[in-house]
Amino acid sequence: MNDVMVRLREAAEYVQAKIGTEPVSIGMILGSGLGDLANELENPIAVPYVEIPHFPVSTVPGHAGRLVAGYLGGKRVLVMQGRFHFYEGYGMDTVVFPVQMMRVMGILDLLVTNAAGCVNTAWLPGDLMLISDHIKLIPENPLRGANIGELGDRFFDMSTAYPENLRAMARKEADRLGIVLREGVYQLFTGPSFETPAEVRFARTCGADAVGMSTVPEVIAARHAGMRVLGISCLTNMAAGILDQPLNHIEVLETGERVKATFSALVKAIASSWPH
Ligand code: HPA
Repeated sequence: MNDVMVRLREAAEYVQAKIGTEPVSIGMILGSGLGDLANELENPIAVPYVEIPHFPVSTVPGHAGRLVAGYLGGKRVLVMQGRFHFYEGYGMDTVVFPVQMMRVMGILDLLVTNAAGCVNTAWLPGDLMLISDHIKLIPENPLRGANIGELGDRFFDMSTAYPENLRAMARKEADRLGIVLREGVYQLFTGPSFETPAEVRFARTCGADAVGMSTVPEVIAARHAGMRVLGISCLTNMAAGILDQPLNHIEVLETGERVKATFSALVKAIASSWPH
């Protein structure tokens, strides 16, 4: 068996032993400033990343660094409170380890969230955006190297990475709650520097509505492993060069804090209407 597969199984078995065998309906990844949602789970069981064999450890302020299993909107969920980023120095294969571990645990549905810079000038900081598609122009890919055949095939389709039926369900829930939910394309930049104004204009020309430093690797790994993905960006700031002001991480966290009740309400409604 592939070495990575051995490590994934050991990690999955450890987490499974901690959280119990009741099946998890949805895996969730909470982005910068959005991690508080994990504190709203019913009957939570937390497993710190440091305890899990072969798991990386997150280093960013605003990322708690633990898995929390529990119930949200009546569904059993497993939430990553804090994720791993390429800019922290991890290889992309490490960044996607938790998603692949979820798949090994039998989880087939994934909700990914992130904080992102807003490229679309018709929208505002604090808006939430459904991810309809993504752009990755950087050369790294989390699946470079030997294919893990137990997870999926070498070449796989990305044309419906964010399936329409899940997005339609999310739009319906947002409408019902009176929450403005944008929809658009997320473009990955590596960070940790924010983009330049010229890079933001380039992203807009490419068709991007938002820019960020995460999510794309995880979605690629999830699709490889046959998982169904829904992505939501919290547009925490106008991307560089749009407003005449510098960008900083504090603003990202503050906007996350400002919208967290709306974000939580939407994610809870989405969990409860999730079709699988
Ligand atoms: N750029 C990249 N990543 C981000 C941004 C941004 O403007 N805001 C929050 N995450």
